[in-house]
Amino acid sequence: MSAPPAVATSPELGFSSQEREVELDALEVTGEVPAWLGGSLLRTGPSRFEVGEQRLRHWFDGLAMLHRFTIHGGRVSYGCRSLEGRTLAAARDQGRIAYGEFATDPCRSLFKRVQTLFAPEFSDNANVNVMRLGERYVAMTEAPIPVQFDRRTLRAAGVAYKPPGELTTAHPHLDRASGGMINYAAKLGPRSTYRFFHLGPDESTPRVLSSMPVREPAYMHSFGQTERFLVLVEFPFVVNPLSLALSGRPYIENYRWRPERGTIVTLLDRNTGAAAHRFQTDACFSFHHVNAFERDGEVLVDMCVYPDAKVISDLYLDRLRDGATISPAALTRYRLRPADGSLRASTLADTDIELPRINYRRCHERPHRYVWGNAQGGSGWLERIVKVDTEDGTHIAWSQEGCYPGEPVFVAAPGADREDEGVLLSVVLDAAAERSFLLVLDASDLGELARAQVPHHIPFSFHGQFASHPEEG
Ligand code: CO
Repeated sequence: MSAPPAVATSPELGFSSQEREVELDALEVTGEVPAWLGGSLLRTGPSRFEVGEQRLRHWFDGLAMLHRFTIHGGRVSYGCRSLEGRTLAAARDQGRIAYGEFATDPCRSLFKRVQTLFAPEFSDNANVNVMRLGERYVAMTEAPIPVQFDRRTLRAAGVAYKPPGELTTAHPHLDRASGGMINYAAKLGPRSTYRFFHLGPDESTPRVLSSMPVREPAYMHSFGQTERFLVLVEFPFVVNPLSLALSGRPYIENYRWRPERGTIVTLLDRNTGAAAHRFQTDACFSFHHVNAFERDGEVLVDMCVYPDAKVISDLYLDRLRDGATISPAALTRYRLRPADGSLRASTLADTDIELPRINYRRCHERPHRYVWGNAQGGSGWLERIVKVDTEDGTHIAWSQEGCYPGEPVFVAAPGADREDEGVLLSVVLDAAAERSFLLVLDASDLGELARAQVPHHIPFSFHGQFASHPEEG
């Protein structure tokens, strides 16, 4: 018997380069985009995985491209542009990887490594997330070079601000009082510190809110925030700062899994910056905090949790292109009780979930009921969009054979009463058609409202935000 013909419905295309920059006035739309939806879904993600003869090694390494889906009056336009900066310039002009990425290093000599220890040269490959800060739009990664860009043209417009450290996160939180943001940075050196900082909507100089000494910083992709506290969760995946500077290994390969340390949760007082409460629990790992809030004397912290940090090695491109499966994350709630120092962990959903989103404007720092995200299917990759009801642990899902949806971004309907009243926007790869589309779902029942076809595939990306501008096309 001969094998059946291969059908191109596996997700590998999502890890292949797509460097074409386009500007399309009207995508082909099927279904009906709600008339009230006006604004732009802005996303960043890897788009190029080879530079000259070199190959980038990890999903997180790919050279950044910005994407813009602008929706107005039921019509959808689309644009994409590689993120301009020194990382792209070295790749385009010299055909070389000039700066260290997450898991790819430019093979520097020991001399060069010692030199960069004192004057680090960071990559500006901001491929993880975008945010709106006042009237500015900023692309971000974990290296401390947030890049401002023009919302319409997607042209880069220089460094937005300088974080107070060498490592940061691409998941800042809104500071409701100022309309600015709060983010994390690690200041590395003989005496390293974890820091949190504030940046006002029109400011370019961060103000450090809190500084906490640490010998071996933990890998930090996001953090939690309640009305009174900043929530720092140290998973036992830690780095010796000297090895980071001198080992010659790519960035993430300097981190070590030390489960004997357990996971340490610190609540920092937002007013004083002081470490107010500390809790310890079993070793685990997470990229994404979902939300945190205070209720009945407890601080509740929801995260997408893995038993260990193996998921990072799951995401090397060679493995992904071979169709290897990835570790599933569990939606986990930590209940912290400052009065007696107790911590209880429980699983909130009967599905795995990653790239989580909530109704952020309404529920950030406050109780939420619903979490949307991506969950795995039979391929071992993310194949479904799920909506979890955290009150009863149930979920509903959207999926389509051979289609691989990205992060579902929630946009509330104008004047919405219910938490889940609005739409989800997700960029979906249709593997058989070898192209992607923007999917618009009803956020409450995951019913399909519309899709807008892009003429090519869009490599899998991480995060994006919806910038509302209903009056302007
Ligand atoms: Co992330």
